[in-house]
Amino acid sequence: MRITTVGCGYLGAVYAASMASIGHEVLGLDVDQRKIDGLNEGIAPFHEPGFEKVLAEALASGRLRFSTDYSDAADYTAHVICVGTPQQIDGAGADLTYVHAAVDSLLPHLSDTAVVLGRSTVPVGTAASLRERLRAGGSDAPLAWNPEFLREGFAVKDTLHPDRIVYGLPEDPAEAARAREVLDEMYAPMLEVETPLVIGNYATAELVKVSANSFLATKISFINAVAEVCEATGADVSVIAEAIGLDDRIGPKFLRAGIGFGGGCLPKDIRAFMARAGELGVTEALGFLREVDHVNNRRRDHVVNMARKALGGSFTGKRVAVLGAAFKPDSDDTRQSPALYIASKISGRGADVVVTDPAANERVHAERPNLAIAEDAFAAAKDADLVLLLTEWTQFKELDPVALKEVVGTAHMIDGRNVLDPQQWRDAGWTYQSLGRP
Ligand code: UDX
Repeated sequence: MRITTVGCGYLGAVYAASMASIGHEVLGLDVDQRKIDGLNEGIAPFHEPGFEKVLAEALASGRLRFSTDYSDAADYTAHVICVGTPQQIDGAGADLTYVHAAVDSLLPHLSDTAVVLGRSTVPVGTAASLRERLRAGGSDAPLAWNPEFLREGFAVKDTLHPDRIVYGLPEDPAEAARAREVLDEMYAPMLEVETPLVIGNYATAELVKVSANSFLATKISFINAVAEVCEATGADVSVIAEAIGLDDRIGPKFLRAGIGFGGGCLPKDIRAFMARAGELGVTEALGFLREVDHVNNRRRDHVVNMARKALGGSFTGKRVAVLGAAFKPDSDDTRQSPALYIASKISGRGADVVVTDPAANERVHAERPNLAIAEDAFAAAKDADLVLLLTEWTQFKELDPVALKEVVGTAHMIDGRNVLDPQQWRDAGWTYQSLGRP
């Protein structure tokens, strides 16, 4: 299949390279010339394990190239919208500017056999309105919605070996048949190995994605709410998570209590879902998501308070080491990162904050010049009055408490991800605190 991806950000670039790696001819389109030049040279615009290898192999195969010239799309059949849908600057809903721009840029170049596929996460109702936009622009191209579920850090694996594939097909039978034909060919290798295929209409496919992310966010906030109760009672949230996770109706995943979720998806997706429910007159249906968001935000502020107490009531003149800035390990993404939120808050209140992150240092330096950056945990922790572990990189999980104690001013650790062994750290002479664990 000849495929274009419109948008070469996280989703589009990984998708383009992955689809080329399974034999398709792929053209990645984006408006950012620097990004396109880099991708054509095999340079990833973000940190993602395994991506540069797939990118290099796909470029070498001759089946993948990137361009800013949308007229190149004329020779391609399947056009996959992979642009971002960030939270609106002045509201909770999703900003669809890039999605509309993607369709508008494609319109003049769609051939008679073209099919448009949406992969971006969008509010329910968007696909129907984009179909109208195509028709108003003079194109009869069928449109289908095909949400993605990739996780940062596992993006290539999740694209090539998805848990499930979802098609949101148009009502018109002829359009649906054509869209399905193209989708089936694109995903032939995945369908051959019996990846579950779920088919619905536009609204269903759009809602599958936001429902999945809302459920994951709810699971995290649920266990974080339990952690709050644990802190008031002396119970251990990690033991509770283990015990309830053994019930296979609940399952053990996404029950890690800590400073909560961040990233470019979960926070904005739950807010956009609530905003859309409001527009549809069913605000109350998603009222619980407001609480999910509140619990999540509360955990960050709780850690700021714990840090203040640990420092004797004031941040002024205190040196605080922050281990981790990315919203999760194996990523350099700092969007909505709880780690960066906490680091910035503490810095804003007068502490000298030194941050270190194995992948996000450069990004932090560019975005938050007020935060000092260190090469590694030992450099960050030098003379620190307090150390905060906020992103659970393997490097930090494996830190030797005895060696780290040698460099700090005061051996006080707040483990915001509950990943260190409390006994081991206390035995090494640290005051050790975590979230929802005694
Ligand atoms: C998420 C969804 O998992 C993915 O399916 C979707 O396509 C995009 O959004 P991602 O944002 O990459 O993926 O990260 P994810 O692994 O879901 O983690 C999100 C956040 O939740 C991170 O900040 C992580 O630290 C936090 N988290 C996760 C917890 O705090 N506890 C957990 O138990 C799990």
